[in-house]
This record gives sequence, structure tokens and C-alpha cells, in this order.
Amino acid sequence: MPPRVLRTRRNFYLAYRPDAELDQCYPEIVQLSRAWVRHNVLRNAGDLPRLYAFILNTRQVLDDNVPGDMAELGVYRGNSAAVLAYYARKYGRKLLLFDTFGGFDAGDLTGVDSEKPREFADTSIATVREIVGADNVEFVIGRFPQSLRTALAESRFCLVHLDCDLYEPAKAGLEFFYPRLSPGGLIVVHDYANPYWAGIKAAVDEYCAGIPEKPVVFGDKAGTAMIRKVAEP
Ligand SMILES: C[S@@+](CC[C@H](N)C(=O)[O-])C[C@H]1O[C@@H](n2cnc3c(N)ncnc32)[C@H](O)[C@@H]1O
Repeated sequence: MPPRVLRTRRNFYLAYRPDAELDQCYPEIVQLSRAWVRHNVLRNAGDLPRLYAFILNTRQVLDDNVPGDMAELGVYRGNSAAVLAYYARKYGRKLLLFDTFGGFDAGDLTGVDSEKPREFADTSIATVREIVGADNVEFVIGRFPQSLRTALAESRFCLVHLDCDLYEPAKAGLEFFYPRLSPGGLIVVHDYANPYWAGIKAAVDEYCAGIPEKPVVFGDKAGTAMIRKVAEP
């Protein structure tokens, strides 16, 4: 139970803003916060620790000059993609966006996810384009990994955001992106410590059993995990 003084209602608490924002170190946070909640207030507005960690770690990787493209698997309406797109443009990188853009594929609702409803169909490429913009952004439309084109096998990545909720695409995402991640590159996995999407932790733990790095978990709403590659295994 958190300290009583910090509790307001059952699912809410008050929190400090990061000193980095107050110091005006990251003036883009104002613009990115707006994109973070556009057409998605209920899901995103209360999870500012997730946004702050996402921004700070994206900048960390890019400021370290880790080579490669950026990618997101699981775009929905483009709120987190808008953050990545901002930095892709600022640092001269390409951002690849992977999604069905029509919600979960029925073929992925198996095993641990067999009872899950079809979600996230209420979006469109036009909605995503409006929030994310066009420059430096490439859409890879369809069910992952079936959507992978042969040319993508040659890609190298500096930062990957896995936010696909389900075991099957998360497992396939790790298998595709980790070997193509540059040393120093980062995989951000949303929902790692979220018991509702238990397949995410299963996929990450299974994959991390075979690589040198382990997930580092954050205290945002869904327990985002980050895996930063230290060297080629
Ligand atoms: C939670 S939403 C992504 C939210 C988004 N990253 C954000 O923070 O604004 C999950 C997305 O994963 C996508 N997805 C799930 N399985 C997929 C698969 N096999 N291939 C492509 N997209 C998939 C869904 O279509 C949905 O848009």
C-alpha cells in the first residue's frame, strides 16, 4: 500500500513531475504530451511516468549515437509512435510502424490469450497519420510477423517499442528485432508487469533466458520493461 498522503482515489495518486521537465531540459515534453493523449485520453492521460521514461530513454539511446532505425510493433492510434516520430525526425532516423491497423488478429488469440476479446479495431491509417505525421515514417501494415517483407531482414535498429499485448506477436517481435538491434540499442516492452496481458512477461522471460540481458522493470501503470543490448551475444 503506498503512503496514505499520496493517495487520492483508489486508482490514482499524485506524483512529482520530473526535475528534467521543470528545468526546461526537455521543452518538447509539452508538445509530446499533447500527442500522447490525442484521441486516447482515457488510456494514456494518467500514465505520465510511462511517457517520461519513454522520452528520457529514447533520448538516451539517440544521444549515445546508437546506429539504426527505430520501430514500433503495436501502434493503435499512434500516441507512442508520435513520440518516436518526433525523435526520428530530430535525429535523422527512419521509424517503421508495424500494426494490422485493424486491431488484434484472431489467429493470435490462442493459448494464454485465447479468452481475450478482439480489441483496438477503432483506428485507421488516417488517424495515425494525423497524430504521427509523415516525414521519416514508414508503415508496415498487416499481422506481424507475416507482414515482414524480405527487404526488412537487412534492417538494423537502435530502438524498438513492443506494445502488442499478446504472446504470439511479442515472441515473434523479440525474435525479429533483438538480433537486428545494434549494441547499445534498446527494446521497450509495454505491459511486462501487467497481469492482464500475462503473455508479454512469458514471451520476454522465455526470450531473455537465451540472451545476456535481462528486463529492467519500471513502476508505471503497466510495468514497462526495458532491455538494453550490451554486446552481440
Ligand atoms: C495497446 S495497442 C498499442 C498502443 C500504442 N503503442 C500506444 O501506446 O499508443 C496494441 C496494438 O497492437 C496491435 N497488434 C497486436 N497484435 C498484432 C500483430 N500480430 N500484428 C500487428 N499488430 C498487432 C493491435 O492492432 C493494436 O493496435
